[in-house]
Amino acid sequence: MTKAPILEVRGLDSYYRQGTDTLWRKKRTQVLKKVSFTLGQGEVLGIVGESGSGKSTLAKVILGISRDYEGEIVHHSMRPQMVFQDPYASLNPAFTVGRIVEEPLIIYGKYDVHERKRRVIDMLEDVGLGEEFLVCRPHELSGGQRQRVSIATAMIVRPKLVILDEAVSALDVTIQDQILDLLVRLKKENNLSYLFISHDLNVVYQCCDRVMVMKSGEVVEENTVDGIFDAPQHPYTKKLLLAAE
Ligand SMILES: Nc1ncnc2c1ncn2[C@@H]1O[C@H](COP(=O)(O)OP(=O)(O)OP(=O)(O)O)[C@@H](O)[C@H]1O
Ligand SMILES: [Mg+2]
Repeated sequence: MTKAPILEVRGLDSYYRQGTDTLWRKKRTQVLKKVSFTLGQGEVLGIVGESGSGKSTLAKVILGISRDYEGEIVHHSMRPQMVFQDPYASLNPAFTVGRIVEEPLIIYGKYDVHERKRRVIDMLEDVGLGEEFLVCRPHELSGGQRQRVSIATAMIVRPKLVILDEAVSALDVTIQDQILDLLVRLKKENNLSYLFISHDLNVVYQCCDRVMVMKSGEVVEENTVDGIFDAPQHPYTKKLLLAAE
């Protein structure tokens, strides 16, 4: 039985304003070309492809950060969230960890201050950080701890869909494994769906159910993780696999 969809993308074309023409007008350059896929509830879909193939652009269009697109994006969940590669850039350095994780709840506006504080402490514990981290600032944390804070910040609004854009790429291998374990546990406990963007095929192999391969803004192949790794069809997929060996 196929799973109910959490996200459907159909015929997505997207554009950036890049460079100028002879009259100094910004040119509209197409990045994504006819991207279509469905992500099921509780599923992890890996997105791989060389640098510049449009992986982050796809994430940004899906979350409404990049708005110049044509095609259809159907969300079947509320408040989809994103976790970035570099928590240094995405965590406000002036705020304490407690305040950073509380921020989405303040914006969401549904809980009073006591409920918020309680949920922040529970969430931090859930990502393996004790109460002593509440008053730390991002620069006082290790890379792994910072990524735990980013994950807590994404998960605190109880999303059903989380887009992870190179979320473990900046970490060394041991810490990478710890963060992947954390992501897998949170996914199981909350029946989450992940769009898992990574240039690292080993990581994708470890945690994805299906994989979509992108090249120059197009999807060249999509299959189960075993299908992609055991029987790649497209020459580009074969090339990526060879390069990762
Ligand atoms: N804000 C922007 N304005 C204009 N062009 C952009 C912008 N962001 C990305 N691009 C261009 O869009 C194309 C796809 O970039 P994108 O960041 O989606 O690639 P990627 O697959 O995520 O690469 P990487 O693996 O390096 O993160 C590139 O040619 C890039 O230069
Ligand atoms: Mg990217």
